[in-house]
Amino acid sequence: MAAANAAAALIWDGAKLALLDQRSLPDAEVWLSPDSAEEVAQAIRCLAVRGAPMIGIAAAYGVALDVTREPGLGTLERAAQTLCNARPTAANLAWAVNRVRTAATLAGPSQMASAARGEAEAIEAQNSAATEIIAASGADLLAGARRLMTHCNTGPLATGGCGTALGVIAELARRDPSVGALVCESRPLLQGARLTVWELRRMKIAHELLVDSAAAGLIQRGEVDGVIVGVDRVAANGDIANKVGTYGLALAANAAGIPFVVAGPLSSIDLATPSGQEIEIEERDGDEVRRFGSTLVTIADTPCRNPAFDVTPAHLVTALVTEGGVAKPVDTESVARLFS
Ligand code: MRU
Repeated sequence: MAAANAAAALIWDGAKLALLDQRSLPDAEVWLSPDSAEEVAQAIRCLAVRGAPMIGIAAAYGVALDVTREPGLGTLERAAQTLCNARPTAANLAWAVNRVRTAATLAGPSQMASAARGEAEAIEAQNSAATEIIAASGADLLAGARRLMTHCNTGPLATGGCGTALGVIAELARRDPSVGALVCESRPLLQGARLTVWELRRMKIAHELLVDSAAAGLIQRGEVDGVIVGVDRVAANGDIANKVGTYGLALAANAAGIPFVVAGPLSSIDLATPSGQEIEIEERDGDEVRRFGSTLVTIADTPCRNPAFDVTPAHLVTALVTEGGVAKPVDTESVARLFS
């Protein structure tokens, strides 16, 4: 187990769903109790629950909540549509919803509710098992690296289980306690500063926080042995979409000749999307840029751009670590082989 003291972000008791409201961290641990697909979708839209694998798991339970209350194909379809539309970029969301939709449809109206709940539980369990494999093989790949830079949040909060990129760092630190993390704050919503730092502190792993704009310079100065990040969608050719700022880290790592590693479950891979150019990048409200937390940091009506993700081309990715194996180099053939 890579991540001791990992925090659960989602609790399902067989009938009710509880989501840790990640907007309140690290100041307070507030739990939400959504009781419909629409309420789960709302939690996903506002980033109360976030991270590609975790929004898939939450959405799976969201479908189960609605068909438990009112079994029927109409309910199933409405719930599935609502949840799939909540955020566009992470592949895991529609993947998980479609798994539950298929299981519920095949079960028929009288068994639909239990089939949906069972499928959501299976998704959660399989996802957790996947993170353990990813943590171990990512740590094997990066053996010897002691100063790991990471971006956004990829720990248990974002993924369930022990985390993906952060799970790898936790496993490296378990093997060698001198391993530490350099954490990019991840503007505008500060998932690195608020969530990754909170998780690393709980896991007792050494870490330092930096502003995003310091990352390239620290890499250039030789202060980083490798960069490891999570992923929201992998295209068939190995291009990856992840939290905005990832592409810059990949360029800097490449220029410095250090590994740039991407870790994520197979459910983040979308073979139907040929390349990164076709990945839809979520544009969020400009107010997230105008404010730092609740403080306005510019003129109130300043026009903003707020893409939540960017695309890193496959040739800049040293390796893609999944529970299906490691793609290295990352290209159409090696990505396809992960499923065989
Ligand atoms: O907008 P968020 O907070 O959902 O973005 C999360 C990320 O970009 C993560 O790096 C990604 O989902 C991978 S989660 C292991």
